[in-house]
Amino acid sequence: MCGIVGYSGPQNAIIPVLEGLTRLEYRGYDSAGVSYLVNNEIQIIKKEGKIDNLKAEIKNKNPFSHTAIGHTRWATHGAVNELNAHPHTNETFSIVHNGIIENASEIKEDLQKEGFKFKSDTDSEVFLVLLTKYFLQTKSVKDSISLAMKLIRGNSAFVMMMKDSTSLYAVKRGAPLVAGNNPAKKEIYLSSDPYALIGFAENIYFPEDEVICELNRTDKDIEVKFFELSGQKSERYKAQAKKMSLDVANKGEHEHFMLKEIYEQPGLIKNLYEYYLNQEGRQLLTKITKYKPDFIHIIGCGTAWHAGLVIKNFFEEQNKVRVNVELASEFRYRNPILKKNDIGIFISQSGETADTLASCDLCIEEKVTALSIVNVEGSTLYRNCAENFLIKAGLEIGVASTKAFTMQVLTGYLMSLSMAGKLEAKKVQKEFDLLADNIKQVLSRTTEIKAIADAVYNKKGFIFTGRGIYFPIALEGALKLKEIAYVHAEGYAAGELKHGPIALIDQHMVNISIVGPELHEKALSNTEEVKSRRGLIIGIGDEKDKKLKGVSDYYFGMNLEGLDHLRPVLVNISMQLFAYYVAKLKGTDIDKPRNLAKSVTVE
Ligand code: F6R
Repeated sequence: MCGIVGYSGPQNAIIPVLEGLTRLEYRGYDSAGVSYLVNNEIQIIKKEGKIDNLKAEIKNKNPFSHTAIGHTRWATHGAVNELNAHPHTNETFSIVHNGIIENASEIKEDLQKEGFKFKSDTDSEVFLVLLTKYFLQTKSVKDSISLAMKLIRGNSAFVMMMKDSTSLYAVKRGAPLVAGNNPAKKEIYLSSDPYALIGFAENIYFPEDEVICELNRTDKDIEVKFFELSGQKSERYKAQAKKMSLDVANKGEHEHFMLKEIYEQPGLIKNLYEYYLNQEGRQLLTKITKYKPDFIHIIGCGTAWHAGLVIKNFFEEQNKVRVNVELASEFRYRNPILKKNDIGIFISQSGETADTLASCDLCIEEKVTALSIVNVEGSTLYRNCAENFLIKAGLEIGVASTKAFTMQVLTGYLMSLSMAGKLEAKKVQKEFDLLADNIKQVLSRTTEIKAIADAVYNKKGFIFTGRGIYFPIALEGALKLKEIAYVHAEGYAAGELKHGPIALIDQHMVNISIVGPELHEKALSNTEEVKSRRGLIIGIGDEKDKKLKGVSDYYFGMNLEGLDHLRPVLVNISMQLFAYYVAKLKGTDIDKPRNLAKSVTVE
């Protein structure tokens, strides 16, 4: 979603702000802008589309300033255009915003009645006008922020600068925000993502909700201060010296981050068991044995939800415990029955997904233990949960989640084994090694997958089917294809076809039929039913499965032997590659698909 970067310091502020925004491009956006001080007055440059458009305009104007804020916008209120792009600015303040002001239209109406004018259709400008109104009354930026925050509803993060000042201000509620500094260089920073500040800020601060950040700078000194909305000094923040390297963020020999991330999977799987089977990870896994839940709620969105659907099977089978897997956006609003002895497992790559965070808060309020399966250490989810099971996937830049899914499933598998007291280090190592080796084999057969993609990429629609543990893989395969190739794809439980979707089948439709050894005959007969209606079959299954191969127009068989519970993970790798090659043939923007954001920080 929206990316925010703010800087004040001795160098040209435009440089770190643009660099930070470029790093946040992967999160998804549709316009970008910066504002900066020249002779104490606020200047602004905004452009629709890619950051390159903004960069071209900046090159043209060649501004120099010591204080600047920048933003990449993912539209929520108001069309994608320069007017609605951030920063929003008037003669006193410039602000950037990530999130949604839910009661913006009511407040705007009141402000308009009071005579305030608006330039854009955004909810964000409402905050700018409120800030200005209160500043006229109080002459205090902190008081004005506080009054504005008390009035607005919804999850948001704001970064602000003002004329005649080298200070930066920020505040958030339920949206990511970090502050940073580099004392040696006398620099101060703000951002929506610590990733934007790597290599710049020496210290990173994570303020909690409704903590006002005031970052001051003079030529001699800098200070980072935190205040409650009441005006009192606040201790509600965490400080961290951020050690994170940037070399993870290049594509290496691969054409896209997504492909690079798909290829990283065998190595990551080995790292995962090394982490969880060594002392620190082992201790963490052991902690889960203290929970004897009556009920487990597994919650996530999109790909993370699909991972949850796979993980459910592990907990049910190995722990004989009841498990419900829920979409966070539904769970949070449907008054779920939550009991003290339940546990909530929240799955998220980013740890910043608004609906997942709200569902987690709901569980915590009801005294349900919240555990996370999360990639980003230090993210909001990570900070809110009682225990965090890191998936150790490294930075995932491709908007379409690939390696995170694999690592989420495997982490859930280890948690389930540990809770059941069935975690045998040697056995797990053997299973994970086999999985990594078989993934490598699949990765070496891209020519076959490309050929299948080539044969079908122009077809009318794609129905992915699977039964049991392969049903979530059908959902995930379809999601991956639709999000990066922009084609219509649906995932179905194979047994459901007859209950409606089979009406779609004709010679223009492709059925990607995932058939593992489990429920083999049943799934095969569903495939036959599609075949009889002239659907084109891409069979995905065991390399020795002659029956499935016989019924398929195109076949991709893998060595599923010995993988047992982990078969779906292997099968999913072929789905990732299939989506990738279809998208390549379609010529889409694979790493940054249209309309999508890497981290969905609004509901
Ligand atoms: C799909 C995808 C999304 C995310 C979802 C949850 O490829 O990336 O469906 O899985 O937005 O995001 P996280 O895992 O960050 O909570």
